Amino acid sequence: MSIRYGGDYNPEQWPEEVWAEDMRLMREAGVGFVTVGVFSWGIIERTEGVFEFGWLDRVLDLLHENGISVDLATGTASPPQWLTTNYPEVLPVTGDGIRQWPGSRQHYCPSSPIYRQKAAILAGKLAERYAKHPAVIMWHINNEYACHTAECYCDISAAAFRTWLIDKYGDIDSLNDAWTATFWSQHFTSFDQVLPPRSTPAPGNPTQRLDFREFSSDELLACFRAEKEAVRDHEFELPVTTNFIGVFKPLDYWKWAPELDVISNDSYPDPLESGSAMDAAMAGDLMRSLGAGRPWLLMEQAPGYVNWRETNGTKPGAMMRALSIQAVSRGADGINFFQWRQSRGGLEKFHSGMVPHSGTDSRIWRNVLQLGVDLDRLASVEGSRSTAQVAIVLDWANWWAAEGDGHQIRLDFHANLLDWYRPFYEANIAVDFVHPDAELAGYRLVLAPHLYLLSAHTAGRLAAYVAQGGDLVVTYFTGHVDEHDNAHLGGYLAALQPVLGLSIDDFAALPPEGPNARIAVASDDWGDLGGEQWSEYTKVIDAVVLARFAEGDVSGCPAITRNSFGRGRAWYLGTKPDADSLEKVFGTICRAAGIKRVLDDVPLGVEAARRGDYFFLVNQTASPVEVNTSGYDLLTQRELGVVALGAYGCAVLRRLDGDEVSGNSLSNSAIGVRA
Ligand code: GAL
Repeated sequence: MSIRYGGDYNPEQWPEEVWAEDMRLMREAGVGFVTVGVFSWGIIERTEGVFEFGWLDRVLDLLHENGISVDLATGTASPPQWLTTNYPEVLPVTGDGIRQWPGSRQHYCPSSPIYRQKAAILAGKLAERYAKHPAVIMWHINNEYACHTAECYCDISAAAFRTWLIDKYGDIDSLNDAWTATFWSQHFTSFDQVLPPRSTPAPGNPTQRLDFREFSSDELLACFRAEKEAVRDHEFELPVTTNFIGVFKPLDYWKWAPELDVISNDSYPDPLESGSAMDAAMAGDLMRSLGAGRPWLLMEQAPGYVNWRETNGTKPGAMMRALSIQAVSRGADGINFFQWRQSRGGLEKFHSGMVPHSGTDSRIWRNVLQLGVDLDRLASVEGSRSTAQVAIVLDWANWWAAEGDGHQIRLDFHANLLDWYRPFYEANIAVDFVHPDAELAGYRLVLAPHLYLLSAHTAGRLAAYVAQGGDLVVTYFTGHVDEHDNAHLGGYLAALQPVLGLSIDDFAALPPEGPNARIAVASDDWGDLGGEQWSEYTKVIDAVVLARFAEGDVSGCPAITRNSFGRGRAWYLGTKPDADSLEKVFGTICRAAGIKRVLDDVPLGVEAARRGDYFFLVNQTASPVEVNTSGYDLLTQRELGVVALGAYGCAVLRRLDGDEVSGNSLSNSAIGVRA
């Protein structure tokens, strides 16, 4: 058993003399896993159809001799010069009609048949040659799909979009209906007239935009599939992955995830931004959920700074360690960096690497050695799983549509998702993410924020969950439209009206800042609360009103309600409670639903997470804290009476012989949200 440790290894950037030193240093650091060849297309196939594998043979042999396993990349994320010279139509085109140039990376049109064909040829050649190589244990298809080129608007993409639409709608009148093409004379008489949502004088058709987003995610998935199939023509057993990018808008990862044998993620929280650890935690929870609870890999993180923000602050060593242990606590069975050796030249030369420019007498190298020791001590954690009582519904189509044009507010879906996640994170309540149509029966509480697009099918599933005894929390910006982004008539919320016991008559948006950004909300249970972003004119059918708007034209309208439906309860928030208010409201909801923390009495800023028999404590603050619990700590290899954590300190406590970790902290009593 082991937690895999390593990083992206790009030996082609270095003379071969350096490779021997790389092997020695990898062994010294306990590195046993590297990703090779992510950007090697142009080195392997310098000329179209001529493949030079000699250097890669030597690299893989050397790694194997040193006991290091390889995640072998197909190398297709950066097309070589010959591809774009010989086939310039492969280059992507922006919505303004500008064809992009080679000279960076990911400069390919996702729908290009030539790109797909040439990429698949390379993937197949690699699989053919290295399928039986003893170092290779995993295939890494492409790299961070959509990181730079999520969409292409060229004529090839336009034709592919039409094919996709014919498949979806069958005939042009169904498309006209779904897109409400009677509006602004947008009616089509043939699919030949349909274009991608290219740059227009005013914002374009929202359903066209929504379809194009899904199409673009699907086209990149088709690229992934083409490479995966080419690999599978030669090799059938090794797991296949591609690296995801956290909570990432362009790709519907629910569609992607089932096609990956191992989920892997790249995580680059900003060390200068407080709250970025929470974002990383949320991404970790999402990765575990995408794999239906299976362990995943942290495929990339930076040991120190990145080089692509305006200001690139660095991670103190303890913070880097805390973020690594955090990933393990959320289900990662591997911790890897971009990249092994910091590049000498090129755009990323000032992006940190495990072996920095300054060499091994360095802070980064000492941190890398320390992490190797830590992960070795966590070997027994490998494979263990987590359970959660709470699920948050995340739906990409909703993300795309809710952030589209023509709404009352500019909703920042990711920022709001973090705000909804925060009370659980701060209270150390484990959370899974789920697709709206997922099986919900195992959860005590389901939070469905901003299901703006609400189909009858999804509403029916949520209703069934409540009827069978679940607690469902629904927020504003839900059920305004159907799956084609056309309004639900007769009071928003549509089929959820009977579940929530209310309907929405009209909206009253709040500005993002200024004196009117906060609206007073009055309640008996929680006293005075504050709401942000949204208020509305709500009509109660039979819900219990828990809080009402207390100012403005909506004064007196329900802001927070609860309704009994079947054997369960459905809660509704018609505004975004500010941080303090949200904590109070969620405290009540969690108590009602019988939700338990991972550990009680954990100071704010310390994450507590559980995998199987292991309890993780990660201090994400620079202040030392004590946690009143005890147990055997895998990291210090000592029995602890009280857990003292320094700045960004961590402990991993093992449960002993069926016994809870001793101390009152594991009583798992029902909660108020914060300790
Ligand atoms: C990732 C990418 C790596 C490297 C890294 C730098 O997006 O996969 O190749 O560029 O960022 O942070």
